[in-house]
Order: sequence, then structure tokens, then C-alpha cells
Amino acid sequence: MKTYFKILFVMTVIAGCTQQVKLEKELVNSNKRWWKESIIYQIYPRSFNDSNGDGVGDLRGIIQKLDYIKSLGVTAVWLNPIYASPNDDNGYDISNYKEIMTEFGTMQDFDELLKGLHERGIKFVMDVVVNHSSDEHEWFKQSRSSRDNPYRNYYHWWPAEKGKPNYRWSFFDEKGEAWKYDSITNSYYLHYFAQKQPDLNWENPKVRQEVYSIMKFWAEKGVDGFRLDAFQYVSKDTTFPKLPKNFEKDINKYYGMGPNLHKYLREMYDEVLSKYDVFAVSEGAGSTLEDAHSLVDEDRKELQMAYHFESVGIGNKLEGYKLSELKKSFTKWDTSFAEKGWISIFLNNHDNARVVSRFGNDSPEFREVSAKMINTFILSMRGTPYIYYGDEISMTNIHFDSISQYKDIAAINGYKKALSEKKDMDAFMRDLNFTSRDNGRTPMQWDTSTNAGFTTGTPWLPVNENHKEINVAAQENNPNSVLNHFKKMVKLRKDNEVLVYGAYKLLDENNEEVYAYTRTLDGKKMLVLLNFTNHESSISVNAAKKIESILINNYSDLINKNGKITLKPYQSVICSIKN
Ligand code: GLC
Ligand code: CA
Repeated sequence: MKTYFKILFVMTVIAGCTQQVKLEKELVNSNKRWWKESIIYQIYPRSFNDSNGDGVGDLRGIIQKLDYIKSLGVTAVWLNPIYASPNDDNGYDISNYKEIMTEFGTMQDFDELLKGLHERGIKFVMDVVVNHSSDEHEWFKQSRSSRDNPYRNYYHWWPAEKGKPNYRWSFFDEKGEAWKYDSITNSYYLHYFAQKQPDLNWENPKVRQEVYSIMKFWAEKGVDGFRLDAFQYVSKDTTFPKLPKNFEKDINKYYGMGPNLHKYLREMYDEVLSKYDVFAVSEGAGSTLEDAHSLVDEDRKELQMAYHFESVGIGNKLEGYKLSELKKSFTKWDTSFAEKGWISIFLNNHDNARVVSRFGNDSPEFREVSAKMINTFILSMRGTPYIYYGDEISMTNIHFDSISQYKDIAAINGYKKALSEKKDMDAFMRDLNFTSRDNGRTPMQWDTSTNAGFTTGTPWLPVNENHKEINVAAQENNPNSVLNHFKKMVKLRKDNEVLVYGAYKLLDENNEEVYAYTRTLDGKKMLVLLNFTNHESSISVNAAKKIESILINNYSDLINKNGKITLKPYQSVICSIKN
């Protein structure tokens, strides 16, 4: 009898487990979406490829490289803004949302580019910059012309007779002031970013309708996704109350997730997103995990993917970072989004210096292995991976030493501000040298020719001298190159759903040298081991005793003594594990 109960018990447990697996499977299956399976390649159009020799990358330049993009295996492309713009902030200041920037080409070029991508099975993500426009947009020209102009309420104005408005901090202003006095109507206007980027007034329903019309215009053309720039800032308390001292140190808390943000997103979903097979990702995801969920959980009917900054920011310190900090951040976000919602996975974009210089090691000795390690990481996490152009070949920081070399408004105005505040300018320059956005915006390195094959003219931003060693042409022909490793890794992810949807489990969490985790789905299990240091490092994990095969490795072998693995500097491997 006893044995009978034991058997019954075991059977019940097995049945329970099977049921559990079945439920998990159903959950994964019902949550599958094409944009979760995407691998997004981000292109900074100014810097990718110049087709007409004016030194500025353009749409025809991208068209010439479509086969290259296809060869990477990526499934979507996100372009930074390509709309008409006076380029105070390289296209993030838009003067016409339904026209293409003259320097970048024409609408015909855009249509051809989109067609070319779609023909190659690649989706297209459009950057939408609607927290602010350019001050050269017709709306703003009208708005500033008189207090009773019909466009007056398209922006935030504060009449000077009410006194000075309460202080608002600005990201790019040389004085750090977001209110700018405009004598034409004796009023101040608000600009969270540069003076030439006045904030649109989202509380005005007409502004919102304009935005939806813009989004529909592009959705009708066939774009597949939207990246909403600085979107968490659009809703504002228009009484502009006084904010606590030093609020700018925690800016997202005060500028993000404004009072009507959800209402507007819901409206955008109803008016635009729900009508097309598109997804939208908002830059920024509030200040808490709850904020992020409130933006992207499917039942909210707002956005589809969160893009938070916690992890990318960890690498922005000259003194380096602790691996445990990085693990903690990625693990926290994964855990929170394991069942509901969806996140982006990235360590780089156009607002950062080069990833291998920040998170890896850009010395000649370790650049290649560490770049491969980072790409292995990004492409083996749960979430939609974003790869910034040039990171597939391990482009590095350029290291400008004089402020005159910088082109980015954030660097130039940041310098002026630091100077007027009598900051330690040597320290400022050291930091800028390491973190400046210009580091990540130098032209794509195609080959060893003058200007790396980017342009026949004078490039708008200097080409990195190291293009003689780091370039696409050399790497395409080398089976062991960073580029070929990247392609292999992309293929591995595309061939293995477990890398997209599989459960993530962190192993040996306090290890400061090796990042180890498993991914599991439907009885399939993979072990990922990443040595983040420039020396050998060992790790013992149970899963290593059950390695079936090595699926990708940035070295030619792996030292495994009964589950104790010794990884070479920056070695990264993914192994399949017997379950
Ligand atoms: C976002 C963009 C950044 C831009 C800013 C203002 O943060 O990513 O590049 O400068 O918004 O539009
Ligand atoms: Ca050009």
C-alpha cells in the first residue's frame, strides 16, 4: 500500500510538472510577436555611407549598403531621424515631419530604401521626435509671432508679466535653463533640450492630432515600428510649479511620466498603433519597474516595448564599473518582465560612446575578443536586441582632445556651461573624451581607403584613424573576425527560439569576473558564460557538467574539468546542455 501511495505521489508530481511546462509553453506561445523576435540594427544616417561626396551620410548611401545589412542577418533597421531639420541636434530638431532632410535625399529615396529593406525581409523602425520640434517648424514660427495666433498653444509659453517662470532644467542649454525669453511676444517658451527645440504642448488636442496624422502618414508608407524620442516627457503639469532643489539629479522622476501620459498613449494606440501591424518603443521607461510595466504591458494597450537606461548608464564612468552591478540591473529587468511586458536589450546607441570602449576593452590585444563577448551577451538575452552600427566590427572611441573637434551640441554647450560654472576643465575634458556622443557617431569604417570608404569628400566628423585595421572589408574576408562572429551569433539566435523566449536564470551572481546564465525553453537549455576580465577566470557551475556541445565560442577551445571551466580573457561561449 505504501508503495502504491508513493507511486501515486510521484505520478501526481510528474503530472503537475508536465502541466506546469504545458502552461509555460502556452504562455510563451500566446505571447509570441514578430517584434520580440527582431534583431534591430540601428543606423545613424549621417555617418553610415555618403553617396554624393558632400561628407554627410544619406539615404542613397544606405541603399547602396542594403546587401551588407542583409548579410548581417538582422531583421529590422532603426534610423535616427531623417526628417527636414536645421540640424541643431542632428535631426532631433524637426522642421517638417512629412519631408526628408535635404542632405539625406528625397521622399523617392526613402520609398526606395523602404522597398529595398522589405524586399530583403527587413523591417523598418522610424524615429518619432514629438516632445519638441525645431524652432524653424512652421508651427513654432506661427506660435511665436503673436499671442493670439492659432498655433500659440502648440507650445508652452509663459507671459513675462507673470514674472519669471519657475526654474526648469535643460539638457543641452549652455546655461542649463529650459525657459527662453522671446521678445516678440514678451514671453518665455519651454525647451527641455536645446533652445532650437521648443517643447510641444501635448495638452492641446490639436497637437496630438497632428502627431497621429504624422504617424499615420509613415505607417501608410509601410514603416513597421516607431521609436518615440524622449516620449516620457511629453505630458507636463502646465502650471509649472516650483520643483525641489537639485531635482535635475533625478530628472526622470520630475520630467517623466507626466499626469496625462497614459491617456495620450492610449489615444495614440487607438488612433494609430492598433490600426497597423506595428510596434512602438518609447525612449525611457519612467523611474521604476512599475512605470515601465504601466507603459508596455499588453493589456494596457499603450506601447509594446520598454527601453530603459539603467544598464547602459553603468558603463559611462571613467573609473569603470562592477560586473555585479551590470548583472543586477539586467537580472532585475528580466525577472520583472519574465511573464508580462517586453524590454529592449542594448548597451549602446547614438547617445553613447562606443560599446567596446565602455564595456569591453579597446586595446589592440583585447578589442576583438571583448567585442565578440559583448555581442554574444546582447544577442543571448531575453528581450529585443539593438545593435548600433559599427559595433558589429568593434569600432572604438575616437578620443578628441580639443573642444573644437566636437560637433555634438551636448558637448559644446556642456563645455560652455562647465566653463561658466568654473568646473575643473581638465576633468571635464577627460570625461568628455570618454563619454561624448561624438565617439559613437564617427563614420562607418568600410575599408582601408581614405575616409574608410565612407565619403569621397570631407567627412562631417573625422573618421577614426584605426579604420586601417578595423573595417568591414578586412573582416568580411576573415572567418575569425568580429563581424563573422556577429553574423554567427545572429544566426544562432534566429535558429534557437530559446534565446528569444527562454527563461533566464543567473548563476553565481556574486562572481565579479564571469557572467553566467542559462536560458531554457521546452526542454531545451543553453548555458552562457562570459568572462568580463582581461585575465583567465574559472567558474564552477553544475550545468557545465552536462555540456552537450559548444554552439559559439570566441576562442578555439574551452577548458572544462568536470564542471570547472577556465575561461580565457573575455572568452564567451554558449553551450547546449542536457536536461
Ligand atoms: C533623445 C535622443 C537624443 C536627442 C534628444 C533630443 O534623447 O536620443 O539623441 O538629442 O532626445 O531629441
Ligand atoms: Ca551625402
